[in-house]
Amino acid sequence: MANKTARVPSVKPHGERFGSETIAAQGELVAGLSRNAACIAPKYFYNSLGSKLFEAICQLDEYYPTRAEAEIFVTHAEAIKASVGTGCTLIDLGAGNCAKAASLFPLLQPRHYVPVDISVDFLEQAVARLQAEFPAIPMDAVGLDFAESLALPPEVEKARRCFFYPGSSIGNFTPLEAARFLRRIRAACGEDGSLLIGVDLIKDRGRLESAYDDALGVTAAFNRNVLNHVNALLGSDFNVRHWHHRALFNAEQSRIEMHLEAAIPQDVTWSGGHRAFAVGERIHTENSYKFSQSGFTNMLAQAGFGNIQCWSDHETSFLVCHARAC
Ligand code: AVI
Repeated sequence: MANKTARVPSVKPHGERFGSETIAAQGELVAGLSRNAACIAPKYFYNSLGSKLFEAICQLDEYYPTRAEAEIFVTHAEAIKASVGTGCTLIDLGAGNCAKAASLFPLLQPRHYVPVDISVDFLEQAVARLQAEFPAIPMDAVGLDFAESLALPPEVEKARRCFFYPGSSIGNFTPLEAARFLRRIRAACGEDGSLLIGVDLIKDRGRLESAYDDALGVTAAFNRNVLNHVNALLGSDFNVRHWHHRALFNAEQSRIEMHLEAAIPQDVTWSGGHRAFAVGERIHTENSYKFSQSGFTNMLAQAGFGNIQCWSDHETSFLVCHARAC
């Protein structure tokens, strides 16, 4: 795209229509809440308040991944630029407030920026601000559950795509889902595309658990807020005051698990159903897998990527990798 003039970006809900999306979400939520071991998928964290709470998490002392990743992009800027090149179509998966990608604009000088996020309202505001700041970069925001589909609108050229997936969000998939997702990105890369991705590394339990159970209780609020979102989607009557936040490192599975634990016995109802919870019963809300460098680069290779380069922060707590379609 040679367009050098600022455009007013519009968020394109790409994929299913809103009504059928809500019905699908309700079905998924009821199925998860009805399981013996109840669960809620982590994508439901991100309503408008949840997205803001996640932004706050990223500023916490305990939550090292954001700082470590930012350090890598500064310390290894020239090497990353040499590997990625300039002038790509930068496709930002889970863009949120778009801040991470925006910090790379001066380095990578993308010819087209395509932020993709499930939380459309939040994305809309973020892109409007960003477009004013970088009027020369054409931007097309896409509202999409990219974990389900990477079908991008036709204005996103196929040539020289660089998918950007920072923050170790890949860790929120199961290993099987992660492998499938990486293969889908590989397919969407075409012949000359690439992936720039951040992953969190395995480290000691204390550091991991305090990153997910901070002293201020921001992560606890983020976890509990998922119940507000479920109430809005399902018409259920969860009372957030009746749930404790739990974050535990499962070393065998190499993942932090977040749960909500019932503080009192309760019966939660929604239209057409209900679920009784005993004291101490849990709802599993998130897994955050942690990787070794070799384990992760093997996953990339198995998904069809090559020429893999990785950079780490000074504490070797986090990794950024660039991998080419091959
Ligand atoms: C978005 N994702 C990578 C975060 C993580 O670390 O797994 C979500 C998060 N959950 C609690 N704190 C942060």
